[in-house]
Amino acid sequence: MREVGQAQVLRRLLGDCLTRYKPGSLALIGCATGNGLEEVDPAITGIVHAVDINPAFLEQLNQRFGQSLPGLNIHCLDMETDLLPFSDAELIFCGLVLEYVKPEVLIPKLLQALSPDGTLVIVIQQTRKSSFVTPTRYNSLALLSGFAGEVSVDEMAALLGANGLCLCEMDEVRLNDSKTFLTFHCSKEKAHQ
Ligand SMILES: C[S@@+](CC[C@H](N)C(=O)[O-])C[C@H]1O[C@@H](n2cnc3c(N)ncnc32)[C@H](O)[C@@H]1O
Repeated sequence: MREVGQAQVLRRLLGDCLTRYKPGSLALIGCATGNGLEEVDPAITGIVHAVDINPAFLEQLNQRFGQSLPGLNIHCLDMETDLLPFSDAELIFCGLVLEYVKPEVLIPKLLQALSPDGTLVIVIQQTRKSSFVTPTRYNSLALLSGFAGEVSVDEMAALLGANGLCLCEMDEVRLNDSKTFLTFHCSKEKAHQ
């Protein structure tokens, strides 16, 4: 799943968001085994929602952080079909999940889970293709493997706007010659609060 450095970059991006926004509550979407939760200061971020479909990942996450994060809530669910069971997250961090769960399904759910003044941070990857045929997220082999494909910047901008989200900032981190992470910092438009 990971290349060298990818997990470390995601951890650093989450750590930067925690330092910047100082949220009382955090939702880590597609949390896997909890990469980045090392950066949470429970004195500041008293509530942590960790969401993933994989119970084995969540068991490991519980073993790693169950003691050190007393406000940890672990949710094993399928974000394609289930709603998120909270609605007050001050920071939602969603790193490399829109490649697996359809953005048009997930983004409205993230919006419902976000507190009125909260910040939604989404990280997507962009890969430079060397083949003539560029895989899309409708590529059938990709769908069979559970990998839904990459989301374009234009697609992200359209989805954020359609869901009443303001894009406050977009940052780029280059991992190597062929892969880049794009980070979108979003807030609810006033009319949607
Ligand atoms: C690439 S990983 C995310 C990387 C992770 N944020 C990190 O820092 O290492 C994608 C995660 O999304 C989870 N996932 C995929 N489809 C899902 C779904 N339908 N519902 C919930 N979680 C899902 C996977 O189990 C996996 O842990």
